[in-house]
Amino acid sequence: MNFDTRLMPYDRESVSEAAELLKRGELVAVPTETVYGLAANALNENAVKKIFLAKGRPQDNPLIVHIASMKMLPPLVREIPDTAKALAERFWGGPLTMIFPKSDKIPSVTSGGLDTVAVRMPSNEAAREIIKKCGFPLAAPSANLSGKPSPTTARHVFDDMNGRIPLIIDGGECAVGVESTVVCFKGGKIHILRPGGITAEMLSEFGGVEVDKAVTAQPEKGERVLSPGMKYKHYSPKADVYVVNAHGRAFEEYCVKRSRYESKLIALGAGIAERGVFLDYGKTPEIQAQRLFALLRRADELGAKTVLVEMPEQNGMGLAVYNRLLRAAGFKVIELE
Ligand code: TXA
Ligand code: MG
Repeated sequence: MNFDTRLMPYDRESVSEAAELLKRGELVAVPTETVYGLAANALNENAVKKIFLAKGRPQDNPLIVHIASMKMLPPLVREIPDTAKALAERFWGGPLTMIFPKSDKIPSVTSGGLDTVAVRMPSNEAAREIIKKCGFPLAAPSANLSGKPSPTTARHVFDDMNGRIPLIIDGGECAVGVESTVVCFKGGKIHILRPGGITAEMLSEFGGVEVDKAVTAQPEKGERVLSPGMKYKHYSPKADVYVVNAHGRAFEEYCVKRSRYESKLIALGAGIAERGVFLDYGKTPEIQAQRLFALLRRADELGAKTVLVEMPEQNGMGLAVYNRLLRAAGFKVIELE
């Protein structure tokens, strides 16, 4: 791990370069519509091991396998439930990941030792062109150092991965900004393990939807969780993050009061004009999702010790924002009367 990391804009030349490296078992950071991914040949055990090393990721946290066409799916899985077929037809390519029983083609490092595999088809053109050029599926977690906020620009990836990987493909800012929705099929229901761009409301057209309790609650120590990623502290800047359960004026006044005796404080308000300690993380859940990780990184750059974030909505895309924020905050919520 001592590379002279190159940044190349997405074009035909960089797609070829990326595919060459991936075929040789190297890692390449690629843009997707959700967040940047750190990609390796999903079927090559040695290549996938490099992902865990570059990120400092726990070995038991399985990776998502990315495909570019429906015909890439059957060899990777033992079974495709009818609901999964319908969801793929409606939401692929797009920010939806589905869990299937895995075939023998998927090495155990890729699935974190589980006998299931997570698969998604991104909509992002650069990601799809690279997968197509490779001809094999790509395992790709978010391209951040483990524990840090996920990267939504090539610059974020460079800040975390400089020297650790040979190439980053720059495809601009990610459109969605938070990672894909992850679902499994349990007890005849669509079970949401991680909320994202495809919302519970959107999925409910296709059957009963259940939100895993780990989405909004802290797992007990040692508790078995369906999605191993839910166990770990995540998305955290260096600063201490708190979700503040207050809105508008009440949130503003609370932050202003605290800022009088805390110098390194940043507040992320929903649609508050940028001034003093305030940064605007947007009025709608869609904008909040798009900005959240970038703002958490910015708070670090500004030297923040404490970041206070206005409570987001908890339905639609808001659930994804709330889930990431709770984890960034280590579940610290300040209740104002
Ligand atoms: O949008 C995304 O999904 C991004 C981009 C790069 O595609 N990728 C991403 O990967 O977020 P990662 O590794 O940061 O998150 C994968 C999540 C983790 O929470 C992991 O535990 C869960 O998916 N997961 C993966 N395979 C699983 C499996 N077989 N069963 C249950 N959960 C699984
Ligand atoms: Mg991640």
